[in-house]
Amino acid sequence: MNNDKHIYTIFGASGDLTRRKLIPALYSLYVQNLLPDKFIILGAARSPLSNEDFRNIMKESILNSNEIHDKSSAEEFLKHLYYIGLQYDNPNDYIQLKEYLEKLRSKFDIPGNTIFYLSTPPSLYKVIPVHLAAVGLNETDDGWKRLIIEKPFGFDLQSAIELKDLLLKDWKEEQIYRIDHYLGKETVQNVLVTRFSNGIFEPLWNRNYIHHIEVTAAENIGIENRGGYYDSIGALRDMIQNHLLQVVGLISMEPPSSLEPLSIRNEILKVFQSLRPLRREEVAKYAVRGQYISSVINNETVKGYREEKNIKPDSKTETFAAIKFYIDNWRWGGVPFYIRTGKRLPTRVTEVVIHFKPTPHFLFTRKNIQEACNKLILRIQPDEGMLLEIGIKTPGAGFEVQNIDLDFRYSELAHQRIPGAYERLLHDTIRGDNTLFARTGEVIEAWKFLTPILEEWSNNPNVPLYGYPAGTWGPKEADNLFDDENQTWHFPC
Ligand code: BG6
Repeated sequence: MNNDKHIYTIFGASGDLTRRKLIPALYSLYVQNLLPDKFIILGAARSPLSNEDFRNIMKESILNSNEIHDKSSAEEFLKHLYYIGLQYDNPNDYIQLKEYLEKLRSKFDIPGNTIFYLSTPPSLYKVIPVHLAAVGLNETDDGWKRLIIEKPFGFDLQSAIELKDLLLKDWKEEQIYRIDHYLGKETVQNVLVTRFSNGIFEPLWNRNYIHHIEVTAAENIGIENRGGYYDSIGALRDMIQNHLLQVVGLISMEPPSSLEPLSIRNEILKVFQSLRPLRREEVAKYAVRGQYISSVINNETVKGYREEKNIKPDSKTETFAAIKFYIDNWRWGGVPFYIRTGKRLPTRVTEVVIHFKPTPHFLFTRKNIQEACNKLILRIQPDEGMLLEIGIKTPGAGFEVQNIDLDFRYSELAHQRIPGAYERLLHDTIRGDNTLFARTGEVIEAWKFLTPILEEWSNNPNVPLYGYPAGTWGPKEADNLFDDENQTWHFPC
């Protein structure tokens, strides 16, 4: 895989994602010498901007980002940025785009290698690729062409299938990179390494030793300025369909036969194919939804979801979702998985908690059985690390047991910077490595699994939407997903 000379075209270049994530990530690659000696970043969007305007906006975003920057390297980097205004649905504009790309190529001696990043509203995923193909910008005779698509890929099973069929008419599967930024997180990739590089975990990583598994992605922010998008999407589509199911895939997959992209992706696909389908009448038992309501946090009143900008006053969109499910295969038969996500929860944390079964017999004094179960906590963010909870003897007379933590934090690794998720993934799109990108089959299977929940939530008026005060851990009804009344979610501090 090479760092070929190329043009990185970003549609939606005047948008938030380009400013906040994509350009700072590309800049960070640039200062680390991870971009080729010849490259152009071409912004494309509806706004009529000049190259200078575009460079100035991006300069600010680079200098405001956390990326390693110094003024002179930023200036040098900005010289690689160009801009073209276009109407996404106007075929003539794509002819102009093609001509402009050719002009840039010949000026800077760059072959036809081109990336098209769709950082646009999802409705345009059906529009831009078709127009690009109509002018031959999907053709690979003069260099590779790659199409990067943000989530959500489709809105439900039907629309995802339609989008897949539409794209595959003009683009080959290996040209399409479905980006899921969770897969770009170092700690998410580390799930694979922890599992398959340590002889001590894998023998225990199954139904014989694991009692249940939890995945939590909590956010303390609300929906910020994304009301228009969020209200039509909700937590299940925004976080679970993609990010959290991908994490589940890595936790539960079989060892891949190699690190080849297909080998890894195939194992994840098998997990998704083994998700036990839910019947609509079971949804209430296995899924809980909530929506935050106004509350006072640190003496400040926080708005409820329905009072936020661009939200319908009677919106039924969930800002919290929790589900319990099973993976019906030999490794996981009978092991419950619990996943939850929500906005306006008490803190920002994403973690995986592996709860091991207790010892077959309690020899020592224990306060309660819950404490007798070892836990392995993979802290995805923000305090990246790993923690193993084990019992030791309480010093003194007798044999009382107490739990202690074997705790590792990435911050303890001297001089090891954790690259941002977009930085890693954008680099992979340039190198042509699609290991960390979701493939069609996975996306379709994920939608298939969630369809009964989506249908039930949108069509059955009797399914409760629980209100939870902003700043709390979501509806208490989410605790009822556990069969055992002594069991509850792990609440990270
Ligand atoms: C995005 C969602 O994909 O992920 C957002 O659309 C969410 O709603 C974000 O806030 C969370 O990402 P991270 O990296 O902060 O966990």
